[in-house]
Amino acid sequence: MKIETECIHAGIDADPATGAVMTPIYQTSTYKQEGVGRHKGYDYSRTANPTRSALETCLASLEKGAFGLAFASGMAAIDTVLRLLSPGDHVLAGNDVYGGTYRLFEKVLRNFGLDFSYVDTTELDQVAQGLKPNTRIVWLETPSNPWLTITDISAVCGLAHNQASHPLVVIDNTFATPYLQRPLELGADLVVHSTTKYLGGHSDVVGGALVGKDLALRERLSFLQNAVGAVPGPMDCFLVLRGIKTLAVRMERHSQNALTLARFLEKQQNVAHVMYPFLGLSAQVAAARRQMTCGGGMVSFVLKDGQVTAHRLVERTRLFTLAESLGGVESLIEVPAAMTHQSVADSPLAIDPGLVRLSVGLENVDDLMEDLEQALA
Ligand SMILES: Cc1ncc(COP(=O)(O)O)c(C=O)c1O
Repeated sequence: MKIETECIHAGIDADPATGAVMTPIYQTSTYKQEGVGRHKGYDYSRTANPTRSALETCLASLEKGAFGLAFASGMAAIDTVLRLLSPGDHVLAGNDVYGGTYRLFEKVLRNFGLDFSYVDTTELDQVAQGLKPNTRIVWLETPSNPWLTITDISAVCGLAHNQASHPLVVIDNTFATPYLQRPLELGADLVVHSTTKYLGGHSDVVGGALVGKDLALRERLSFLQNAVGAVPGPMDCFLVLRGIKTLAVRMERHSQNALTLARFLEKQQNVAHVMYPFLGLSAQVAAARRQMTCGGGMVSFVLKDGQVTAHRLVERTRLFTLAESLGGVESLIEVPAAMTHQSVADSPLAIDPGLVRLSVGLENVDDLMEDLEQALA
């Protein structure tokens, strides 16, 4: 199936009990057993739930993986991956990972004896130099949050998989979604999602997911999923499944609107610099065009007058709502240094306080442009 069809049909069968076309919300914690240990594949909903199974199958199919696992949040999914490691293991991460990822690595997991270092993963020689004999995971975000940098996934996988320690290459694919980019096909071992964002698509659910291709890895991760228990409820799984049905059309329009606004912002006097994966002619844009089908819905820009102007701008938009998060049908605006990425303040990953991030929604692009124009003025 092509991805547009998979978004609607993958993992979805009419309910065998009633014929319901939409996946039922199996709001149950437990399941009747016919005899001791004899059941229909479900015994307790932390371990497995039919609504969650439908979502997990759908995600595996979209990312071209062999398995999917759903979690209560993106952070819960990320935390579960890191529990594969033991004290003394090293993680090499991009130096512009999501602030919450950095916080988990530095303020929580470092206390458990894991070692983390950060490099500019868009520079392959920095990745090569950053790999250590005890590196077990290479952690990438591409496009990254909020700088929208692009890392060449195949090239990094080539470097990592040549290492004797054979680290797992894990890609946070939240910004691109499998509609725009499928890292497992480019050599990655595992994909992470905050399904809160584009997969859910309507700012009405918090969730996370992992998708991989190696069934031995599935065993270890699904053991952790059950042992740790950071699982989503069936209602949340239903909402993500429903969001995914329109992923293809949404990502097309998000990308069209975002590119138009990025080009508009480039021409504004008070804007110093615009970041968008498909804007310009740099090596990163070339990599984006190789591994993504469109640029996605996120645009970041730096204002010439810095923090004060950035704060004034985001408080003056009328259609763009000042709020954290991204990936919903409505347009959002924020200042990462003071909002989503506060946890990296005073660290080497600190964000320029004059950087503004847009999550470009599905409104008419002329209305969005007018809104930015009046706020910039
Ligand atoms: C790229 C990225 N990864 C992971 C997360 C964490 O996801 P969640 O908020 O669902 O825990 C976020 C949240 O903003 C994110 O932007």
